[in-house]
Amino acid sequence: MEVSKKYEADNAARQAWAGLIIRQAEPRNLESPFDQIDTYITPTELFYIRSHFPAPSLDVGSYRLRVDGAVDRPLALSYDELRSMPSETRAATLECAGNSRVFLVPQVPGAQWELGAVGNAEWTGVPLKVLLERAGLQDDACEIVLEGADRGVPVEPPVPPGPISYSRSLPRDKATQPEVLIAYQMNGRDLTLDHGYPVRAIVPGHYGMASVKWLKRIDAVRQPFQGYWQTSDYGYWVSSGDKPVRRALGEMMLKSQIARPRVYETLAPNRVYTIFGAAWAGEVDVSEIAVSTDGGGTWVDAEFLDPARQYAWRRWRVDWLTPQTPGHYTLLARARDENGVLQPSAHDQNYGTYVINHPLPIEIVVADPAI
Ligand code: MTE
Repeated sequence: MEVSKKYEADNAARQAWAGLIIRQAEPRNLESPFDQIDTYITPTELFYIRSHFPAPSLDVGSYRLRVDGAVDRPLALSYDELRSMPSETRAATLECAGNSRVFLVPQVPGAQWELGAVGNAEWTGVPLKVLLERAGLQDDACEIVLEGADRGVPVEPPVPPGPISYSRSLPRDKATQPEVLIAYQMNGRDLTLDHGYPVRAIVPGHYGMASVKWLKRIDAVRQPFQGYWQTSDYGYWVSSGDKPVRRALGEMMLKSQIARPRVYETLAPNRVYTIFGAAWAGEVDVSEIAVSTDGGGTWVDAEFLDPARQYAWRRWRVDWLTPQTPGHYTLLARARDENGVLQPSAHDQNYGTYVINHPLPIEIVVADPAI
């Protein structure tokens, strides 16, 4: 049997998922138990939730999605009108830009995500490009601002003087690519409230913050948008020359994560253990995974369980004969993309508390059989 099929079959009977892990109860910030991840598509019940404000409840009867700003024919689409348009379904991996923050030493502020602020789901909706064409996007629009219906006062300084809505802009070039969806379904079902019901954006290849939930307005603008989540938060420093400037985070960076074994899991000595994980990137494909079981001294290639599909993760595995000598061992996984680029060996300080995409050390214990 083909390895990936066998792997799926091994796990087919697994129905009782462990629950999500609470990082913040309200607004809901819940993490996937990444060590439970087996399937290519992350079940909705296991998909992480990252919300800055409490989820707004929108009435689909009166819901209108406005498309306006620098367009010839502003639109106000009802939920039914959107759903009656030709739709597309595509798998895309979302990773929160703060995923794996707990691995940063010294500790930094923000939700202490471990490995589970990432998931791969199938999204159904209307390409944003189609809506922009229908509205007649004007030539001088440089960005598309996506605005959610949730509002509040953000916590990270500098704090604005009053409540603001969650808004992010996309560069025109990305917004008009066919993969960007205005989605109403996730994994074949209507979006759940926490994942953006009734309508959200899905921006494949970009960190999760770009995929605005509870979408109410699509605003074409002629000047770069300087909103809070574009500049203060979800920004990074570009240190070209002696005057670093602030840019908005966008494309996801190449990353591979070990799902099993878990951090500080105890393994039996001298047994074959299947190390399992997943890797993803932004606009490029992941083409190689190497795994080290000695803290980066030596590396072996892992085997992919999934083909390369742009914007979706690839699960991988490698069998390891655990050492006879009891003790602590550090496991690492490192991806290479189709252009030969490797994951960076350390976190880049220009990204602050975001973009944690260096190989993450998974320390495990090989048990002493005598104890
Ligand atoms: N959209 C709105 N309206 N409000 C939010 O707080 N959080 C963003 C993004 N879209 C957010 C949002 C962030 S930071 C991430 S990582 C993803 O939604 C998470 O999507 P999920 O909760 O469906 O996993």
